[in-house]
Amino acid sequence: MHTGVWLVGARGSVAVTSIVGAAALRAGLTEPIGCVTEHPALRSARLPAYGDLVFGGHDIATTGLVKKAEALAAAGVVPARLVDTLHSELSAVDDDIRPLPHGATQAETAAAMASDIADFRQRHGLERVVVVNVASTEAAPAPHPAHERLDALREALAEPGAVLPPSALAAYAAFTAGCAFVDFTPSTGARLPALHELAEAQAVPYAGHDGKTGETLLKAVLAPMFAMRHLQVRSWSGINLLGGGDGATLAEPAANAAKSASKQRVLKETLGYEPDGHTRIEYVPDIGDFKTAWDLITFAGFLGTPMRMEFTWHGCDSALAAPLVLDLARLASAAHRAGRSGPLTELAFFFKDPLGDVDHSLAAQFVALAEFTGTLG
Ligand SMILES: NC(=O)c1ccc[n+]([C@@H]2O[C@H](COP(=O)([O-])OP(=O)(O)OC[C@H]3O[C@@H](n4cnc5c(N)ncnc54)[C@H](O)[C@@H]3O)[C@@H](O)[C@H]2O)c1
Repeated sequence: MHTGVWLVGARGSVAVTSIVGAAALRAGLTEPIGCVTEHPALRSARLPAYGDLVFGGHDIATTGLVKKAEALAAAGVVPARLVDTLHSELSAVDDDIRPLPHGATQAETAAAMASDIADFRQRHGLERVVVVNVASTEAAPAPHPAHERLDALREALAEPGAVLPPSALAAYAAFTAGCAFVDFTPSTGARLPALHELAEAQAVPYAGHDGKTGETLLKAVLAPMFAMRHLQVRSWSGINLLGGGDGATLAEPAANAAKSASKQRVLKETLGYEPDGHTRIEYVPDIGDFKTAWDLITFAGFLGTPMRMEFTWHGCDSALAAPLVLDLARLASAAHRAGRSGPLTELAFFFKDPLGDVDHSLAAQFVALAEFTGTLG
């Protein structure tokens, strides 16, 4: 059962690390460390094997895939020996990465995007394709009445001008092509009523939003601990320092706002109240893909005694994100195959800002995920 993984932002750090990782797993050159679907509670014969994943995608950048992989190796994100050994596999994937189309209207652009995906499916004889958005974070769009209903959206897209931000147009194209859609970014993606309607009409599932790979992963473990221990969290402030392409994008205030909002939601949802404090993101080019998050939590115990906790997280963002991209592609493909459509709320484990009214504690999300994989057959 060959499954296509169509990456929107296929020349970016997360995408290329995912492609190198899948090729290395297929060749038996590495272990699936960090792949959640390898946990004994989640393993399922219904998930496509790593060797059955075929990659392609869209990007606005033109840097060759091998060149990008070499740059990631030089930065210490992926082992250089893997990039050397997998040179021909990576060049072959490069042939399946297309420039992002531009039509006279967004309807034309979306049709060309859907046609690129359909050609990819046909060229490789794929059973199905999962579209995964790993493109640069975009600002939240202004509300538009056409976002509410599919018929209104179709009419508006046929007029000149932009009705949908790029991530939502990618979701529209994916659904039109009959594909599942996963949003690994905090961008709009499929989060519009009109796109939900399209997903249901096309009987395809979707998942999101914003991969939970570092500071928010820790929040999803620690905040439930404070809640269960009935300690009172008074403030939770965090600063994230990161470089790389993602860091450069997030230096832009509107994209930064989208990401910061996505990171704070877990606290309110798990504690039941919002402590003081903010999460800040700062761009430090010199640290590249290696992120440092520093959090300070002040809390009160019995008799109001004040206490504090601090943590520092040094993570390699793309190495944390890539195995989750592979997990999500496998899970969304199997869910589509099992006849699921609409939001896959059981995949909340993977996201900072999950779809639906879900439990935000990581432990509860893991249980929901294990039950979900059990339903795949
Ligand atoms: N690395 C992590 O741990 C992590 C966690 C959660 C979310 N994310 C999100 O994943 C995304 C990718 O991160 P990254 O580090 O790979 O960033 P990156 O800057 O290295 O890559 C982004 C890629 O998207 C491309 N792109 C921009 N606009 C596009 C469009 N409209 N269509 C197609 N391609 C487009 C860029 O050319 C670039 O190649 C970001 O939105 C980031 O916030 C990353």
